[in-house]
Amino acid sequence: MLLGVNIDHVATLRQARYALLPDSPHAEPSPLQAALDSRDGGADSITIHVRGDRRHMQDRDAFEIRKLCPLPLNFEMGVTAEMTKLALKLRPDFACLVPETREEVTTEGGLDVAGRLAEVKNCVATLQDHGIRVSLFIDPDLHQIAAAVASGAEMVELHTGCFANSVDGTHEREIGRLIEAAKAGHAAGIQVNAGHGINYSNIYRLFVVPHLVELNIGHSIVARAMRVGFTEAVREIKDLMVAYPDA
Ligand code: PXP
Repeated sequence: MLLGVNIDHVATLRQARYALLPDSPHAEPSPLQAALDSRDGGADSITIHVRGDRRHMQDRDAFEIRKLCPLPLNFEMGVTAEMTKLALKLRPDFACLVPETREEVTTEGGLDVAGRLAEVKNCVATLQDHGIRVSLFIDPDLHQIAAAVASGAEMVELHTGCFANSVDGTHEREIGRLIEAAKAGHAAGIQVNAGHGINYSNIYRLFVVPHLVELNIGHSIVARAMRVGFTEAVREIKDLMVAYPDA
């Protein structure tokens, strides 16, 4: 099982102080350093999301990480002309299409691929034409899986937010949805990844979901890094992932 480390919140912390001082030599912490530390800790890829409002990652972070970090880069992006243009300039290895609204604190729900099929299909084809493999961040619903397959994307990333927030009464239902979606995606021949809200305590509960190739984890690694350092935080979660039966 592969680990994609989402380092957006390293940039969140930097922007909290330096958003208005983008050229300050004192700006810290460095997303590039977090990417390099992730590599040292065993990450398989780096994920960044340049949002329309540039609230955390800036364009220059993306280009710097692309140039100086040897790991594959996964570029999370809204389905917009602006982001498609940026992706074609950046040339990441992968792009993950996500919904994006300005009010949300982070990516709150999956992309409605079924409701936006023509638009998504078009974006997928444009990215693929430029050698970028595409993933769609979707809720674990069978109609979204079917739409993702119809879009031509190579991968889906199942949204694990509801699983992560589930309590005793809803946990089984959420795991059941993930299992069904993973089986359907795999049967249709697309790569199945998962992400959002995964942490050092709930990751084990996800291991009953079959066919998962990659997990994308951000917030909890950044939080853990405050205690043990970034490299060690990545190493710890990577160590937990070896228990995945399908690994
Ligand atoms: N996957 C996607 C598509 C995301 O947008 C995010 C961040 O919101 C993550 C994974 C990582 O989520 P978290 O920071 O909760 O680990």
